[in-house]
Amino acid sequence: MNDARQRRKGPLGRILVIIPTYNEVDNIRPVVSRVRATVPEAHVLVADDNSPDGTGKVADEIAYEDDHVHVLHREGKEGLGAAYLAGFRWGIDNGYDVLVEMDADGSHQPEELPRLLTALKGADLVLGSRWVPGGRVVNWPKSREFISRGGSTYSRMLLGMPLRDITGGYRAFRRETLQGLGMDDVASQGYCFQVDLAHRAVRAGYHVVEVPITFVERERGDSKMSRDILVEALWRVTAWGVQSRVNQVLGRGHTG
Ligand code: GDD
Ligand code: MN
Repeated sequence: MNDARQRRKGPLGRILVIIPTYNEVDNIRPVVSRVRATVPEAHVLVADDNSPDGTGKVADEIAYEDDHVHVLHREGKEGLGAAYLAGFRWGIDNGYDVLVEMDADGSHQPEELPRLLTALKGADLVLGSRWVPGGRVVNWPKSREFISRGGSTYSRMLLGMPLRDITGGYRAFRRETLQGLGMDDVASQGYCFQVDLAHRAVRAGYHVVEVPITFVERERGDSKMSRDILVEALWRVTAWGVQSRVNQVLGRGHTG
C-alpha cells in the first residue's frame, strides 16, 4: 500500500492516550499522573462505563484540575471494545493524530510510552509486546500466561499473522490507520477486540511494529477477564480463521 508507506514518515502531531475504566478508583489518579509526567504534551481521555465505585467522578476531578485530561462518560458496562471505539471516535472528532490504548491498572507502564511513540514515527501501528525478545510479564500466574500466549499462538496460526502479542492492549495508532481499517463494523466486545483490530490492520496492508514491553500485573482492583470474554475470543477468532480459508479456497483475494 503506497499511501500507507508515505504516511509512516514525519512528526506525530497531537497525541491522545485513551484509558478505558471499569472500577479503577484506586488506579486512575496514579496512571493519569504518570502519563502526564512522562509525555507532557499528550492529552488523556478516560472512557468510563459508569463504574459503580465512582471512578468517573474521580476522573472528572482530575479533568477539572488539568486541561489535558478529558472524560467520556458511558451509560453502562459494554465491554472494552465499545469503550475504545467511542474513545477513538471522540479523539478523531477532536483532531488528534495519534490514538494510544492503555490499561488503567498500571500494567502498561506510562514510562514505556515514549518508546512506542518513537517506533510509530516509522510505522502505522505499534503494539507493545510481551512475547518478543526483551518483553516480559511481572507477577502473572502461570495459568494467565498460558492463556495469553496460547491465545496469541492460536490467533497467529488461524489468521496467518506474523505478530507475537496479538491480544495485548498497549498500542499506538496513527489516526489514518484507524480510519483505514474499518472501525464501523467491529462487533468484538471483550479482549478479542484487540485481535480484531490487529487482524484488520495487517489485512489492510498497514505496517505493524512490535516493541517489547514489561507488563506488570495490577496491585489494586480486579481484572475484568471472564469466561465470557474467553469464549467470545475463541469463537470469533475461529470464525475469522474459517472465513479466511473459505475466501482463499474460493480465490477471493488477499485474506491476511
Ligand atoms: N470502559 C470499560 N468497559 N473499561 C473496561 C471494561 C469495560 O467493559 N472491561 C475492562 N476495562 C478496562 C479496565 O478497567 C482496565 O483499565 C482495562 O480495561 C484492562 O482490563 P483488565 O481487566 O485489567 O485486563 P487484564 O489485565 O485482565 O487483561 C490484559 O490482558 C488482556 C489480554 O492480553 C489487558 O492488557 C487487555 O487489554 C488484554 O487484552
Ligand atoms: Mn489488568
